[in-house]
This record gives sequence, structure tokens and C-alpha cells, in this order.
Amino acid sequence: MSDTPSTGAKKRIFSGMQPSGEAHLGNYLGALRRWVGMQDDYDCIWCIVDEHAITAGADPASMPAMVFDLAVSYLAVGLDPEKAIIFVQSDVPEHTELAWLFNAVTPVGDLERMTQYKDKSQNLESIPAGILNYPILQAADILLYKAYGVPVGADQKQHLELTREIARKFNAAYGDTFPVTEPLIGEDVGRIVGLDGKSKMSKSLNNTVPVLSEPDDVWARVRTAVTDPQRVRRDDPGRPEVCNVYSLHAFFTDDTTRTDIETRCRAGTIGCVDCKRILSDNISDAFAPYRERARQYLENPDQVRRVLNEGAEKARVIARETLAETKQRMGLNWREALS
Ligand code: TYM
Repeated sequence: MSDTPSTGAKKRIFSGMQPSGEAHLGNYLGALRRWVGMQDDYDCIWCIVDEHAITAGADPASMPAMVFDLAVSYLAVGLDPEKAIIFVQSDVPEHTELAWLFNAVTPVGDLERMTQYKDKSQNLESIPAGILNYPILQAADILLYKAYGVPVGADQKQHLELTREIARKFNAAYGDTFPVTEPLIGEDVGRIVGLDGKSKMSKSLNNTVPVLSEPDDVWARVRTAVTDPQRVRRDDPGRPEVCNVYSLHAFFTDDTTRTDIETRCRAGTIGCVDCKRILSDNISDAFAPYRERARQYLENPDQVRRVLNEGAEKARVIARETLAETKQRMGLNWREALS
């Protein structure tokens, strides 16, 4: 494995998020919350992966605002441009170029085995190649910076295994170039289930709670959450262990209140609406400082622009170097080689 470059003695980590607007609870609990906590210990690079979003047919007219809103979410929850590089993927064209080069070492069979590919392509008459090749671009994102680790939610595990495989295959074919990156998965959080109570929380399934929503909007969302399906009347005994609202309490509600909710739910003495109200209030309270910070950025969009411009410049310095090395390994350097 080649050395992982880093600033000072810190190891480098990279992660990214698709711009589907404001971050939601799944993004926050599975990723953002942990990213914020890593910024002092690692050399961090946080990306907004807009070129991944086009594979899902993102609307061009709303893409710029989606990118901007996600940047605001990043900054509002505490990603810090003083400590980390924060940038937009399409500002650094080396990502797509490296992805093309990785096509040379990635078996189609590995891509077809990805569960996200199977899910996304399921009902499509014609499958865009971008959905299949998506994980190659993800590997390029990570390996362009020779990241030691990638903090992500549990849903990304398979893509990161493929990233490791691509690094191994490249190194075997062309010589030691890339680290075999560690997935840093928040196992304690797992996969956050959406308000429908069954699928992964995801913007495309419209089952999310956006982190920066005002309290009334949080309540409008949380009150629709599916609870224990066997509980029909308010005084029916409930089963917290099958209730997604109860599992979300684990992140926002103190132990004493949670124990009380559990006892009363089982006894049928607290209704689901009251239980959701407590959750909704606690989510709104927990995110109040982020809403305030987001307001400041929304009033000063130039500040956000500056962060992303400077981030892209810094990212490109690293990206250019890795791409040149990769091309040289692959013999795509006729000028130097023949001089
Ligand atoms: P994306 O945009 O779907 O999600 C961004 C991050 O949020 C986490 N996450 C969740 N965690 C737990 N439960 C959920 N319901 C949930 N929903 C989202 C994800 O695990 C992720 O950490 N392919 C990536 C984007 C990407 C990337 C990368 C990530 C592109 N290049 C390079 C890391 C490194 C994706 O679609 O994430």
C-alpha cells in the first residue's frame, strides 16, 4: 500500500453526500454528526457529489440550489472550512478522469452485483450506464485523495468494499499507487429507517426529516411517522422494539424519558401522537443552533461561495498530483516518456 498523504501527522479521510437539498436525519446521524467530530483528529475532505446525483436524473434547473442548500447544511452542522476542505465534485474534473481510468480495472460483474445498482435499475426499461458505473466514480472520489478512511453510513458498505477492490486491482496491475481505504462505518447508528417505518430514510422516498426544518415542519413530518402497526387504539399496548419512532428517540431523548415512554407504551398509557410530539420537540431543540447558523449563511451567500471556491482550489492541488501519477503508471505520459 502506498503512503497516505496527510497534513502533518494526521491521516486523511474523505466523504461525500449527494446534493438532494438539505441534509436529513439519516445523513446527519449516519454521516454528518460523525464528520464534525473527526475534524480535529483527521485531515478531512468533505465533498458535495453533484456528478453522482446526475445518475439519478437530477433536475438541472434545481441542481445549483440543491448544491447550495447542501453546502449550507454542511456549514450549519459544523463542518469547518478552517479545518477541512469543503468543495463540489464537478469543480474538480480529475474525479471523472480518474473514474474513466478505473474502468480499466473494474469487472462489470462486480458492478452488477451492487445492491444499490439492482435497486435503482429495477423498474427501468433502459438503464443508464451511470447507474452501473456509479461506484467507480465513488472509488475515484476517495482514491484521488489517497484517503486512509471514509466515514459513511452502513448503506455505503458495499460501495466501499468495491473501492478497496479497485485499489487492489490497480496496484496489482500498475504498481503500488493507492491505499486500500478503510470504511469507517457508524455501526452504532446503522441504517436510519424513514418515517414510513420500513425503508432507508432517503429524500427520494419522501420519508425524511430535514435537519434544518422549522419546528412546525418537523412536527408536520414526524406526526406522519408509522409506528407499531398492531397498535390501533390509543390504549392498545405497543411494542417499542418494532417502532421506528421509538428507535429515533434513542438519538434525541434522555434515558429517563425513554424508559418512561417504553413503560407507558407497553402499558398503553401513552399514545403514539404524544410520543411523536416528544420526539419532534427534541429534534427541533437539538437542531436549533444549526437553524440559526444556516440563517446566517443564507443571508450571506457569498460566504458559502467563497468556502466552495477555496475548497475546490485546495482539492485540485492534490487531485492533479494523483491523476498525473496514475496516468504515468498507466503509460498515459508519452510526452515525458519520450523526451
Ligand atoms: P448519500 O448522499 O446517499 O448519503 C450521504 C451520507 O449519509 C449516509 N446516509 C445514511 N446513513 C444512515 N441511514 C440512512 N438512512 C442514510 N441515508 C444516508 C450515507 O451512508 C452517506 O454516508 N454514494 C454516496 C455518496 C458518495 C460518497 C463518495 C460517499 C459519492 N462519493 C465518496 C463517500 C465517499 C451516497 O449516495 O451517499
